[in-house]
Amino acid sequence: MKSHTLLMPLDMHLHLRDGVMLETVAPLTSYSFSGAVVMPNLVPPVTTKEALRAYKKRIYAALGRLEDANDVLMVDDFFEPYMTLFYQNYDRAFLEEMADEIAALKLYPAGITTNSDSGVKTFDLEIMRPTLEAMSDLDIPLCVHGETDGFVMDREAEFMSIYEMLASHFPKLKIIMEHITTKEAAAMLERYPNLYATITVHHLLITLDDVAGGMLQPHLFCKPIAKRPEDREALLHLALNAHPKVMFGSDSAPHPQHAKETCGCAAGVFTAPIALQLLCELFDAYGKLDNLQSFVSDNAQSIYGICPEFKEVVLVETPFTVPEHYGKVIPMYAGETLAWSISDIE
Ligand code: NCD
Ligand code: ZN
Repeated sequence: MKSHTLLMPLDMHLHLRDGVMLETVAPLTSYSFSGAVVMPNLVPPVTTKEALRAYKKRIYAALGRLEDANDVLMVDDFFEPYMTLFYQNYDRAFLEEMADEIAALKLYPAGITTNSDSGVKTFDLEIMRPTLEAMSDLDIPLCVHGETDGFVMDREAEFMSIYEMLASHFPKLKIIMEHITTKEAAAMLERYPNLYATITVHHLLITLDDVAGGMLQPHLFCKPIAKRPEDREALLHLALNAHPKVMFGSDSAPHPQHAKETCGCAAGVFTAPIALQLLCELFDAYGKLDNLQSFVSDNAQSIYGICPEFKEVVLVETPFTVPEHYGKVIPMYAGETLAWSISDIE
């Protein structure tokens, strides 16, 4: 039986939500990942020190972590939530204060996706400059949801000029093009040394045909929408060869079943509990298993300068049937059988 061991897997783009949903989904990621970059698009979004610290505590609580009498978190099963602030125009003093507690700021264009209404309305460099300069000086990465409000298939490609503007004006600012879905974004990576990218597992596996080519598949509907076969090929090329500027970020985005299977389906694909199994199957199918470690951990460690604690995840080529649901959430490929499963975690 084939097996493959991954060390310290990292999910560099994850939605953990809050409340009961947080309690359902957080343990599914902490089980097999050493850490995850946690998105700040709560309602209201995470924009203050107090909100960020309180959210981190709720994440630990959802993981069953205890606090001692001095309010110090007792961490056993190691999992690091790398916290992010929702991008706004912050002043330098605030960012200096927060720098040690955050992995990045996450920028959403206003209204472009779930809970992004208070995002950036116009990309006016003069307004954004003080914040971006401070981030650059403090080495705080800028994670970006790169879509315009244009025609849905063109939104990411249209956003490339904004990436170019940001990357050229702030050459020391690390800019991460989140969940890229197009050949245009793949090409953009090569043009600016300070541009990086995350790629989801679902965008490596599906195109728009899988979402809407037959019966409409709400559990595959997400932002950015899956694109054309040639786009998927460009993403596969980056991921399978573990391009050093590319990291795995699941963009696992749970919504309750009633918000997905309805008229007006919420955007988001829930992959957290099946991501590593799917990646093993995919990389194995292309004879590229040796590159998976870089894609799911090593590249992210170099780009973000993080050093996660030890965790070893052993996967085996043994069938795994994806549960029909996790609490109220339906995962991608619910009820289907994947070729690889997780056999052991240390
Ligand atoms: C995400 C969500 O539900 O929070 N949805 C999605 O389709 N990916 C937001 C996002 O990352 O765009
Ligand atoms: Zn996301």
